[in-house]
Amino acid sequence: MNKMNNFNKVKSLFKHQFLKKNNVLIVSDASEFVNQEQTNEIFSDKWVKYNKEDLEGQEKLFEFQKKWYLELYGFSNEEELKSYLCKKEIILDAGCGLGYKAKWFADLSPNSLIIGMDYSDAAFVAAKNYIDTPNLVFVKGDIGNTNIKSGLIQYVSCDQVIHHTEDPQKTMVELSRILSPGGELAVYVYAKKALSRELMDDYFRVKTKEISKEDMWELSEQLTELGKRLTELKINIDVPDIPLLGIKGGEMDMQRFIYWNFLKCFWNEELGKETSISTNYDWYAPSNALRYSKNDFIQMLVNANLTVRPFHSEEACHSGRFLKE
Ligand SMILES: C[S@@+](CC[C@H](N)C(=O)[O-])C[C@H]1O[C@@H](n2cnc3c(N)ncnc32)[C@H](O)[C@@H]1O
Repeated sequence: MNKMNNFNKVKSLFKHQFLKKNNVLIVSDASEFVNQEQTNEIFSDKWVKYNKEDLEGQEKLFEFQKKWYLELYGFSNEEELKSYLCKKEIILDAGCGLGYKAKWFADLSPNSLIIGMDYSDAAFVAAKNYIDTPNLVFVKGDIGNTNIKSGLIQYVSCDQVIHHTEDPQKTMVELSRILSPGGELAVYVYAKKALSRELMDDYFRVKTKEISKEDMWELSEQLTELGKRLTELKINIDVPDIPLLGIKGGEMDMQRFIYWNFLKCFWNEELGKETSISTNYDWYAPSNALRYSKNDFIQMLVNANLTVRPFHSEEACHSGRFLKE
């Protein structure tokens, strides 16, 4: 596959013609919505910074994320994902961030054309990092309004993104619109957590919107340090069920108890300090970050004309692959 031909093919999928800058097709550069614009700036900051730091931690994160992806979307192993992707002509990684999953798809399925779309400057970083992958093209644009013609994409993967868009329901309808009949949307939403954590998170976001990115990084470092110290306590508690507050009972360590019920203070020794800090930053910094119950998620899928099937749910999220009939 030739990269220039693929650029032209990608261009032909759009309703209008757009400029190309630094090997990225610019479909939309800025949002009219204040919260979406702030969210884009936060991710631009996060990805540009993260791309330069701790390459070893990054590799570990990518490997961890790929394994998790298989679980989230019902693939028993990478081989199964590969043979699934090989049947798809055009694949969209909607909200691709640094583009490592789009690159993964491109390597697994060399005859498919993969488009990675992101609204942040991560699209430029990804295009530079993967310039030599012929079947992979990056686009800067809004997945809530892709400008892609209807019914052309066989697989849309929207992993850990839709809850950051201005109107997730509208985004889901948009992603369903561009799917071809028989195509599938793989989508993930944050799950609602205990009431105390939800209230805290909402209050926190009002505050974190007002502070500078530097202060937000500092806060993320402090939250990471808290998570680390709580983990190091090595205290386990047997938590009672408190259904009215959404607190789930069971044996857990102190960091997990605080984390699920009160405050995001992520710490993962294996992934390392930089990845833990950026995970905390990613949670509290963007203004757009909605959470959903199982029923909310089902309703969104129904409204987008997608077939609801049994899906994956865990404490952090709901996710699955859904068919466009
Ligand atoms: C948590 S990251 C996930 C990135 C990637 N999917 C992954 O799994 O590593 C969320 C990404 O969604 C992007 N994003 C948020 N709103 C968007 C929108 N309306 N259109 C396109 N991308 C968006 C952000 O810029 C960010 O890169």
